[in-house]
Amino acid sequence: MYSKILVILLALGFFSCGPTAQVKETQQKKWWKEAIVYQIYPRSFKDTDGDGIGDIKGIIEELDYIKSLGVTAIWLNPIYESPNFDNGYDVSDYRAIAEEYGGMEAFDTLLEEMHKRDLKIIMDIVVNHSSWEHPWFKASRSSRDNPYRDYYHWWPAEKGKPNYRYSLFDDKGDAWAYDSITDAYYLHYFAKQQPDLNWSNPKVKEEVVDILKFWAEKGVDGFRLDAFQFAAKDTTFPKFPEGYEKDFIQYYAMQEGLHDYLKLMYDEVFSKYNVMSVAEGAGRNFKEAHELVDADRNELSMAYAFDAVDLPNKEGYSPKIFKEVFTKWDNEFSEKGWISIFLSNHDQARLVSRFTDDNEEFRAVSAKMLHTFLLSMRGTPYLYYGDELGMTNIYFDSIEQYDDISTINSYKKTLSEGGDGETFLKHASKFSRDNGRTPMQWNASEKGGFTTGTPWLPVNENTKTINVVAQNEDSNSILNHFRAMTALRTSNPVLIYGDYELLDTEDQIYAYLRSYEGQKVLVVLNYSKEDSTLDLSNYKWSDILINNYQDLETADGKAVLKPYQAVILKLK
Ligand code: NOJ
Repeated sequence: MYSKILVILLALGFFSCGPTAQVKETQQKKWWKEAIVYQIYPRSFKDTDGDGIGDIKGIIEELDYIKSLGVTAIWLNPIYESPNFDNGYDVSDYRAIAEEYGGMEAFDTLLEEMHKRDLKIIMDIVVNHSSWEHPWFKASRSSRDNPYRDYYHWWPAEKGKPNYRYSLFDDKGDAWAYDSITDAYYLHYFAKQQPDLNWSNPKVKEEVVDILKFWAEKGVDGFRLDAFQFAAKDTTFPKFPEGYEKDFIQYYAMQEGLHDYLKLMYDEVFSKYNVMSVAEGAGRNFKEAHELVDADRNELSMAYAFDAVDLPNKEGYSPKIFKEVFTKWDNEFSEKGWISIFLSNHDQARLVSRFTDDNEEFRAVSAKMLHTFLLSMRGTPYLYYGDELGMTNIYFDSIEQYDDISTINSYKKTLSEGGDGETFLKHASKFSRDNGRTPMQWNASEKGGFTTGTPWLPVNENTKTINVVAQNEDSNSILNHFRAMTALRTSNPVLIYGDYELLDTEDQIYAYLRSYEGQKVLVVLNYSKEDSTLDLSNYKWSDILINNYQDLETADGKAVLKPYQAVILKLK
């Protein structure tokens, strides 16, 4: 009798005054919320065999360096076997590590060495599309009745040309490629060498689950799903309105079936192996972002949304918009769900070149400001290799210098449409993703210590001054500030789980409170090349936890912030 009552009371939550029962979802502890992710573009990190291409051995050699950064996880861009039309985002064998990176043996050592150092590994899974050299596609294109035919999307030519689909990387912008072998078109949202997999085919789903299991069995800790919000398609391929490509996300993202695919992955892999998961893109609005990541839905661990990272590409970008966007995202996720915080990755030009100023006068101080920001927000921070040094754009000026398929094909498309090549090149020089892919700058030598051979992409000449060796020695360097910031985050849960509150300030000042279990900190960023004043008379602080200048000048309760000054104050 009593035990029955007890069960009922328990079910009603009578005894749920313990800490866990009352903790809101965003404050429930998870390793991946506490993680600081360091993204490595393996091709550009460190080459140990002189072929000009970074390799796994190079990453292993630098694991102590990586650990010294205070990061806790590494996301590796794809290292599988690939013909490399899109540098690994066109996979020809999902279970093989490319020989140019050192093959599976090197990978197994990497995994072991990372885990020894308590570093987690996140693998990039590219299954919206495969390479056209994948055996599935080779079989699929060989005849209309091949068992692999339906692994991809085909449209028989006798039905006429299929309705227009925009391709992000095609040199004509056309996502349908005609294949004479079977007189049919196949679909490729990216380049023609990257045919889209047909997720409405149950066999494709099974194959992917098996692939994920293969890596989870090996012991990887997380998956980043490339372009996955595009995976589901209406296979009748209806006509989209004229000009839809200007806003193609509305038509390509989050189509029917996508949640089922994610749930399948969660049930079969993510939950069973306790791995974290993040998909590129977070739907078309906040509701869809939540539907991807709220814990009770059992799909993904966290959202990776583009609103902020895309800002500098837009006309009229300003610090005011920056803080508005981040505040909106934080507010939307203050109770449920979890987001990624990032301002750079392998698809973007360099952090300081886009968001602040890469001229010597402000490069270091503004890089430190951006790191103070990235590492003091709620959400899992993702930092991109080289940003810890304040690496800058390389600013190519001719098309021959580029390697990136998207830049090269967009250039061709621009010319074939009668556009102006010069204007295109000017834009690409600032925004092409090759800017963010130049080799890591280890030392001041000509090749930056990246390789003894010819680097696949030139080393930025400024490796003479911007490099690991120089910054290691300088206590005031961006690198050492970065380390201080990761240490601060790791030792202050308020920076991870704390609530966020924006202060009403002048546009160029971004100031926010973080508070958690009685601890309160105030983050103040002067996102400007000018001095700015902020009234702090309502805040009493005991310590300056971090500062990218020697001092914080105050007078009459006001702080006089220097250009790009960034401080975190511990409040009383
Ligand atoms: C998104 C990746 O981040 C990008 O680098 C790649 O080119 C495309 N997806 C295609 O896989």
